[in-house]
Amino acid sequence: MSTYLPPTRNHSPYLPFGDQRGAPFYGKDILSVKQFSKSDLDYIFGVAHEMSEMVSRVGTFDLLKGKILANLFYEPSTRTSSSFTSAMERLGGSVIPINEVRYSSVSKGESLADTVRTLECYADVIVLRHPEVGASAQAARYARKPIINAGDGVGEHPTQALLDLFTIVEELNQVDGLTVTLLGDLKYGRTVHSLARLLSLYNVRINYISPDILRMPAEIVAELDEKGIPQAAYNTLDEVLPETDVLYVTRVQKERFEDLNEYEQVRGAYVISAETLLAARERMIVMHPLPRVGEISMDVDEDPRAAYFRQMEYGLYVRMALLAMVLGKA
Ligand code: NCD
Repeated sequence: MSTYLPPTRNHSPYLPFGDQRGAPFYGKDILSVKQFSKSDLDYIFGVAHEMSEMVSRVGTFDLLKGKILANLFYEPSTRTSSSFTSAMERLGGSVIPINEVRYSSVSKGESLADTVRTLECYADVIVLRHPEVGASAQAARYARKPIINAGDGVGEHPTQALLDLFTIVEELNQVDGLTVTLLGDLKYGRTVHSLARLLSLYNVRINYISPDILRMPAEIVAELDEKGIPQAAYNTLDEVLPETDVLYVTRVQKERFEDLNEYEQVRGAYVISAETLLAARERMIVMHPLPRVGEISMDVDEDPRAAYFRQMEYGLYVRMALLAMVLGKA
């Protein structure tokens, strides 16, 4: 599991905008949700909300004109990669896309450190997705420019958790007092690791629903325990669905299994259908980081409680906010 520490350095001496040094995230890495306080979240969500208004009013604007993002992805991605690209371009900046490291010098054996050192010569910020826990923290040790963790193996996915929480705030207008049920692959799913940690800043109740072999890691349960968060684990959804305000569904992470027979035993363990939701509250939301591979059937899509497509759009605004913040413009 993730053992890395919150960012220790402020990279601002290497960036030219002296007048923005007071901005709280200027020059900082985004490596783990552990680095955020509740007031940081209020700030980020305020900026993200403004971004959504700007996008609906003018679409694209020049806040980051002339800035360059390197999108470095060692693992597949559709939403994270393209939403960071869209975020940068909607802010007037541009993107170096390295979505297929097979075609970069990584395939010649170049180390992560050297790849990052290279890209920061050309870019102002680096978004990194990598299969190893702690890879972003490692990259940040070598980089002078901000590194944004876009998923480090089974570790964390902090920008996803921020957009997940922003979705909850925008959709339900509150976090305190909610019951959040995390369902599916809680062992390998990095999004639920980050989201559970972020939720622990609030007064929430968390339910875990998973097959026994895919339980939430003990380390995270212990962290939340220490913060006094009520948590309970179940094998089935029935018991907790009627009290659930946020049902957060995840994909079983096939690529993380060493033994594919084990995967076969747990795939399809849970399927949310329109019928499942008959037992749910009228005012609740169903979320999923996506991609879904059968955990939510398509007959749920038309239900107003299905928030997973809106969730993707909220992700654009949160990533616009984060880019503007680390580049000293918010
Ligand atoms: C998630 C991821 O990559 O961890 N996807 C995403 O970023 N939206 C979830 C997943 O792949 O299941």
